[in-house]
Amino acid sequence: MPKIIVAIDGYSSCGKSTTAKLVAKQLNYPYIDTGAMYRAVTLYFIQNHISLTNPKEVETALNQIQITFRRHPELGRNDTYLNGLNIEDEIRKMYVSEKVSEVSAIAEVRHALVAQQQRMGRVKGIVMDGRDIGTVVFPNAELKIFMTADPMIRAQRRQLELIEKGDLVGIQEILENLRLRDHIDTTRAESPLRQAEDAVFIDNSLMTLDEQVEMVVRLADAQI
Ligand code: C5P
Repeated sequence: MPKIIVAIDGYSSCGKSTTAKLVAKQLNYPYIDTGAMYRAVTLYFIQNHISLTNPKEVETALNQIQITFRRHPELGRNDTYLNGLNIEDEIRKMYVSEKVSEVSAIAEVRHALVAQQQRMGRVKGIVMDGRDIGTVVFPNAELKIFMTADPMIRAQRRQLELIEKGDLVGIQEILENLRLRDHIDTTRAESPLRQAEDAVFIDNSLMTLDEQVEMVVRLADAQI
């Protein structure tokens, strides 16, 4: 059976990752969360006090970063590792969310991560989500999805996720962070978030998770 690339882009916390994970499971494809890769770089930059305005420092730091994914033996989730350390929980915290869009706007960071993402999808049969997957990473992806949802619904979903991890953050703080990230992500000079011309647009504000997954799997099946 031919293998395809499923590229899912969209705004922060609109359910891309949850949908992408379940679609990947149904298609029996690996799932790559590219947001986790930008978060991992951000964590490294914070921990090592890297100056974002010093290209040489950024370049040197990027050469010292190795990002991998490994399956968690008990939780069954795909965890993110930075230089061999499991950082899955740390990268979801607010202090990383507050810095990640600034780090993601740096051209050197994008070039390094896009190259790694393209290597991961070389043999196809992959579901990848992010902001520039259908436009920059895989412009020839067989299926492109562009997802969005009402900002308040996105903030509420994000708050629930954080509460489940024991992180109590107010809805206003989350909403402001989402708005700021949307703004930086859509207005940056280097590969801004935008809908690819051939992407299928899904506003999932009023959709259940099952409905979203079913819709994307149906669209993927039509391409296989
Ligand atoms: O998907 P998630 O919200 O975890 O992504 C965190 C941030 O990483 C985004 O707000 C965006 O700034 C950046 N990002 C990006 N390009 C991607 C994936 C994420 O710029 N492909």
